[in-house]
Amino acid sequence: MLLHSCVAAITLASAALAQEHISTAGLIQNNSTGASTRLRYDNGTYGPEIEEVHYYYDQWPIGISVASDGRIFTTYTRGSYVYTLGVVVNKTAEVPYPSAALNLPPDELNTTWHGIPFGSGNASAFISVQALYITSKTSTRPETLWVLDTGRPTVHNAQGDPSMPYAQPGGPKVVAISLANDTIYQTFTFPASVHYPDSYFNDLRFDLRANVSGTSGHGIAYLVDSSNEGRPGFIMLDLGTGESWRRLSEDPSVLRGAENVPVYQGHPFYFRQKGSAAGWQLEGLDGIQLTTDGKTMYYSPLSSSYLYSIPTVNLRERDTNPLAEINAHANVSNHGQRGGDANGFEGDSNGLIYQLMPTQNAVFYYDVTDGQTHPFVRDPRIVWPDGASIGADGYIYLNINQLPYQPDWNNGIDLRQHPGAILRAKLPNGGTKATSLYT
Ligand SMILES: *[C@@H]1O[C@H](CO)[C@@H](O)[C@H](O)[C@H]1NC(C)=O
Ligand SMILES: *[C@@H]1O[C@H](CO)[C@@H](O)[C@H](O)[C@H]1NC(C)=O
Ligand SMILES: *[C@@H]1O[C@H](CO)[C@@H](O)[C@H](O)[C@H]1NC(C)=O
Ligand SMILES: *[C@@H]1O[C@H](CO)[C@@H](O)[C@H](O)[C@H]1NC(C)=O
Ligand SMILES: *[C@@H]1O[C@H](CO)[C@@H](O)[C@H](O)[C@H]1NC(C)=O
Ligand SMILES: *[C@@H]1O[C@H](CO)[C@@H](O)[C@H](O)[C@H]1NC(C)=O
Ligand SMILES: *[C@@H]1O[C@H](CO)[C@@H](O)[C@H](O)[C@H]1NC(C)=O
Ligand SMILES: *[C@@H]1O[C@H](CO)[C@@H](O)[C@H](O)[C@H]1NC(C)=O
Ligand SMILES: *[C@@H]1O[C@H](CO)[C@@H](O)[C@H](O)[C@H]1NC(C)=O
Repeated sequence: MLLHSCVAAITLASAALAQEHISTAGLIQNNSTGASTRLRYDNGTYGPEIEEVHYYYDQWPIGISVASDGRIFTTYTRGSYVYTLGVVVNKTAEVPYPSAALNLPPDELNTTWHGIPFGSGNASAFISVQALYITSKTSTRPETLWVLDTGRPTVHNAQGDPSMPYAQPGGPKVVAISLANDTIYQTFTFPASVHYPDSYFNDLRFDLRANVSGTSGHGIAYLVDSSNEGRPGFIMLDLGTGESWRRLSEDPSVLRGAENVPVYQGHPFYFRQKGSAAGWQLEGLDGIQLTTDGKTMYYSPLSSSYLYSIPTVNLRERDTNPLAEINAHANVSNHGQRGGDANGFEGDSNGLIYQLMPTQNAVFYYDVTDGQTHPFVRDPRIVWPDGASIGADGYIYLNINQLPYQPDWNNGIDLRQHPGAILRAKLPNGGTKATSLYT
């Protein structure tokens, strides 16, 4: 038996090795240059065809989500923009969604309390929306656009130096909009003991099944606090009771990488904020994705190469269990490096975990079945992929916003060039939107 299984193992290993090779996709040799040497070069491209779906001419986008009827919703974190949540109406324009009136006017975004700057606490209007996620129709909910408002605008002083006022309860919120009637039907806010004044809501995922352990049976939201001030972690929200709690706060796996210097378009990037000394990108926990069985959460800080995961049962464990945080910490898995910093994540019906790669102008995916990160699509037009959304049409849609060239990261100078874009690519092996957790 022993000998037999040894042989089997060796056969398996060599079969795996025989199948694997270094991809040369995108490496070409141009023999018609007329030069005496013909060097091979990297043309910056591999994977399926990239299609240009939409152009942004007015506001630079962040979040994106695609509905089953093809509508594309987008967010714009702000300051001075007129609105923060929009819907694409044609190839070159978007309009406020669900209405202009629900977007708080720019002069009401921030306030001052005892001399300390705060974001607005208005729970019935949008302040600065970061992320969106659409869940399919379930037996108890319509198809829903979930809106994640940070409650923290970016404001500028008279010299044009940016700052981000603290959040006050009411401002940071999760809002449910029915895509059947374009009406808000639920709003959840957070106490300052869960969403800290220096927290920053960055992304959100849902498990709407009635039988998820540790919940009231009306579903749960997993939210990212990416806090640049240094206290990132997960925030969970019970969609039945509205109760919220934190897990993995300041765990090493959610913290920013030390003095991380990513490379964009071949240029090393230091953080150059007007009015501040040069430094490093400070963002912690950023991309998250649930597996299709809802049992595992994959995640990564923005300024690190490492991919981590945790059983979701550990995120759902409440503070009534004095060991909840210790259990969570002990159950974190490190899946190693992926070869660059990753921004937003997405996941498809085949269980692939897509990771947006601003340093590679690419999208990679992690395959849980072989434990490796693979190339998916790369294109020189992917100049900072920020948000992604997989549609019911089997395409992944990417918001492209040239973020490193924005004034607030570039000593006050705006080197972005309109338009921003929505690009899309067809998923491999018939992959499409994952809907298994929306029953
Ligand atoms: C890059 O090379 C690949 C072949 O490896 C080719 O399919 C692709 O069209 C090329 N792209 C560009 C932009 O030249
Ligand atoms: C270019 O020339 C090399 C060397 O002769 C050859 O191996 C290669 O196939 C040629 N490539 C193309 C695209 O014609
Ligand atoms: C190859 O080089 C020629 C001459 O410089 C150029 O016209 C042509 O576009 C190049 N082709 C590719 C595929 O890069
Ligand atoms: C796109 O929509 C905007 C806003 O509704 C409108 O002003 C513009 O004329 C439209 N453009 C085209 C080409 O339809
Ligand atoms: C919140 O904003 C909405 C929309 O601008 C406004 O109608 C409402 O009066 C505001 N609520 C408070 C408490 O200021
Ligand atoms: C909003 O922030 C700006 C920039 O710091 C400041 O000038 C303004 O007074 C603030 N508004 C309120 C109402 O506090
Ligand atoms: C819109 O749909 C939601 C969710 O189904 C429902 O609660 C709400 O009453 C509807 N609102 C209107 C105005 O139809
Ligand atoms: C939970 O409910 C889903 C359907 O919503 C079902 O597929 C799954 O098997 C159930 N899990 C357990 C542990 O009962
Ligand atoms: C993982 O979490 C579970 C509780 O969900 C706990 O029983 C277990 O001890 C944890 N694992 C480790 C290695 O601590």
